[in-house]
Formats: sequence, structure tokens, C-alpha cells
Amino acid sequence: MVGRKVGIIGAGFVGATAAYSLTMTGACHEVILYDINTDIAKGKALDIGQSTSYAPKGTIVTAAEDASGLKNCDVIVITAGVPRKSDMTRADLLMINAKIMKDVVGNVMKYSPNAIILCVSNPLDIMTHVIHKLTAWKRNRIIGMAGALDGARMSYQINQKIGYGSGQIKSMLIGDHGQNMIPMPEISTVGGVPLNQLISKEDMQAIIERTKDGGAEIVKHLGTSAYYAPGRAISVMVEAILDDSRIVMPSSVLLDGEYGYKDITVGVPVVLGANGIEKIIELELDDETKSKFKVSVDSIQDGIDILEKNGFFNSF
Ligand code: APR
Repeated sequence: MVGRKVGIIGAGFVGATAAYSLTMTGACHEVILYDINTDIAKGKALDIGQSTSYAPKGTIVTAAEDASGLKNCDVIVITAGVPRKSDMTRADLLMINAKIMKDVVGNVMKYSPNAIILCVSNPLDIMTHVIHKLTAWKRNRIIGMAGALDGARMSYQINQKIGYGSGQIKSMLIGDHGQNMIPMPEISTVGGVPLNQLISKEDMQAIIERTKDGGAEIVKHLGTSAYYAPGRAISVMVEAILDDSRIVMPSSVLLDGEYGYKDITVGVPVVLGANGIEKIIELELDDETKSKFKVSVDSIQDGIDILEKNGFFNSF
């Protein structure tokens, strides 16, 4: 079948794991890995390609020699970036990764001008905002992957606590992909049963803290950031877009008046389908959640302001 072509930019841990997950579910016809380090893309594409003998479908997995190999993708996943090193300030990291976005997005606009972009690079909400500014595409076509992962982490912690409901736990979160994320146990469920009828407030608070620290906890053990859960979360979102399955998923999107904000990218529940974001769902927030949401939005705006002050947005 022609189409169902997914380009993954950044064939590191997260990008390659997303490719592997897509291959194992048979969600797409072709996965193309592109990395500035061509050998990484080639080696991973060979390895993943050699797993397809035992995959449900014979997904074609290739490496792009250069960015022109990313032609006519339906979905582009961006996982390119550098991790923060001890001698880098937040501003340094923001500028470095924003410049990587500039390089990457230039290639996407040239070779896959009709694609839907799924941004995974961190700091997630800010990089998603940068991609909106760089492309000036309609907002439904640019989506940040964060809530899919944070929600999966919250569901895991809930299952660890109660010991049942595996695969039936639906966790909702809003806000940024960081310390100010806002888990919403009041609208999360286990097999349809409201969570607050199953877990005490104190236990829920502990679950919220562990969810927020989910990434850091893994870094502590591994010395590197997570990739299996992020890879699977990417795959689920790509599958929803390719299948037009219209699932509800918290995702980082550009608000245009929703929740009382404009021109900011932040996590809220959306409907994912063939057009990317089919709909933004506006939850009714109580006053406490509204003020938490403001803190979260402000923290994202701070990052955008740093880029602004450093002249990033004047350079294109
Ligand atoms: N074009 C293409 N690839 C690039 C570019 C670029 N301009 N710049 C960097 N890369 C590639 C690197 O060569 C590297 O292989 O991006 C890849 C990033 O992979 P890893 O360092 O393994 O990082 P990973 O753990 O996969 O995380 C990637 O996802 O979850 C986020 O915080 C994480 O921002 C990070 C991203």
C-alpha cells in the first residue's frame, strides 16, 4: 500500500524505539530514519529492518542518506536534540535545541510539506512552539508528544498502587511536560470507575509526585533518559493519525483562545485523527486548577521569552 510513510528525525534512543514500536504494530508501510549522524540511522534501520521477519507486516525500514530521503512522509516525528550537559544553562540548551529545530524543520518543509509533525524533542512545549513559528503551518498539523507519555506513567503508578486494572487505567493530565504538569485524578478512571473512589487523597498525592518525577527516576538508574515508554507513546499517536482513529489524548498544542490563552503551546486533551488535531477539548477547570495551569503556561512562556531575548525569532 502506498502512503502511510513515517519519517523519524533523530535516530537516537527515542527515535529508534518509536520506529521499532511502529514496526511491531505494523502501523505503517514505511519508516525512514534520518539522523545527522548517518551511521546511527543506518545501523538502527538495519537492526530494526531485520526484526521485521517476525513482525505482523513487512514494514519497510530504511535510513535516509541525507534529508532528501524524507520525501513525502505522511507523518514526521522529531526527536533530534541534545541532552542538557552539566555546564549548560537552561538558555544554552534552549538555544541549541531551537537551532536544531530550525535545521530539521527546514528539511521537513522542503521534503514533506504536507506532513503532520509530531514533536518529541525537549523542552517539549517550547520546541513545539518553535516549530509552529518556523513553519507557520495550520496549528492542527503540529503536535507535541507529552501527555501520552506522562499519562502512561501515571497509569503505571496507579496500577502499582492498587494492583489491578492494568490496561484499563485512563489518566488525564494537562499543562507542561515538566515539573508544573497537572495530573487530573478527578477525571481519571480505572475501567470506568472514577479514581477518587478507589484511592485516598494521600496515596493520590504520592502517585502525582512519582508521575512528575517519572523521567528523572529513570535517569537516576540508567544515567540516560527513558525511551521505551516514550517510543511506544509516539507510536500510539502516529497510529491514531494514520488510522484516523480519533482518540482522545492529552497533547501539546497551540492555543488560540481555548482555556483563555493564545499563542502558547501547552498540554490539553485533543482528538487525534488524519488531520492531526481534529479538536481541542476544553475541560471545565476549577479555580485551583486554573491557577496551576497559569503557572504551567508561564513556565513555558519563560522559555519562549529566553529564545526571544537571545534573538532566535529574529533569525528567520
Ligand atoms: N538533524 C538530525 N538529527 C539530529 C540533529 C539534526 N540537526 N541534531 C541532533 N540529531 C540527532 C543526534 O545525532 C542523535 O542521534 O538526534 C539524536 C538524539 O538522540 P539521543 O541523543 O539518543 O536522544 P534521545 O534519548 O533519543 O532523546 C531525543 O527526545 O525525549 C526527548 O529529551 C529527549 O530531546 C530529547 C529527544
